[in-house]
Amino acid sequence: MSARCENTRSVRRLAARPSGELARGSVERVNNAHREYLASDEWRQTLQDLALPFAFGDLSYAELGDDVVEIGPGPGLTTDLLAAELPRITAVELDEGLADALRERTAGSNVEVLHADATAIPTESGRFSGAVSFTMMHHVPTVELQDAVLADICRVLQPGGLLVASDSVASDELAAFHDDDIYNPVDPETLEDRLTAAGYVDIAVRANPYAWAIHARRPPA
Ligand SMILES: C[S@@+](CC[C@H](N)C(=O)[O-])C[C@H]1O[C@@H](n2cnc3c(N)ncnc32)[C@H](O)[C@@H]1O
Repeated sequence: MSARCENTRSVRRLAARPSGELARGSVERVNNAHREYLASDEWRQTLQDLALPFAFGDLSYAELGDDVVEIGPGPGLTTDLLAAELPRITAVELDEGLADALRERTAGSNVEVLHADATAIPTESGRFSGAVSFTMMHHVPTVELQDAVLADICRVLQPGGLLVASDSVASDELAAFHDDDIYNPVDPETLEDRLTAAGYVDIAVRANPYAWAIHARRPPA
């Protein structure tokens, strides 16, 4: 176990309540226009043609290994695309309605859905061979909670395990789309330092005017 990933436990203790309730500061809110768009054919096509190819870059899905955690699946179009290519996906979703709907829709498949806060993923350290998170970080309300999510993903990765994540960069158009919703976009310039502080190594950050993507690993044993 890496000392740095172990150090993230103190962040988890602050974020998680002993009762197992969702972490303080986490907010279950995704507005209705958003929910509809995230379940649409247009978004599925965008994920397939643009968003996931950008996030993975030169990497194949297979490099995530055979036991992958997805953070923030929403309605699960990203989950569907991954589950078609990988043996096992565990999806961690904060919104109870979205988690329940995805669990019902994927029952009997290679997808397990946990209704949980990714600042305190309810699984043992070092379990997953890989982790993914798409278009999710801007829904986490503070930089501190975003960093707690990055740290807890590092904790649940196996030594050497790979994180692939991406999100949109800040824009007025996206801010307007998040009316009555959380909108806290990540500045990609900050990501290398924040991933290092969260315990990752082999960090690669890419960004263009629309989106950022990261590849990073938990340190090898
Ligand atoms: C915009 S959706 C992205 C859905 C999907 N990944 C996609 O790209 O189509 C972001 C999701 O992250 C979830 N989320 C936000 N904060 C979370 C947290 N702390 N833990 C787990 N899920 C979270 C939200 O509830 C929402 O369903």
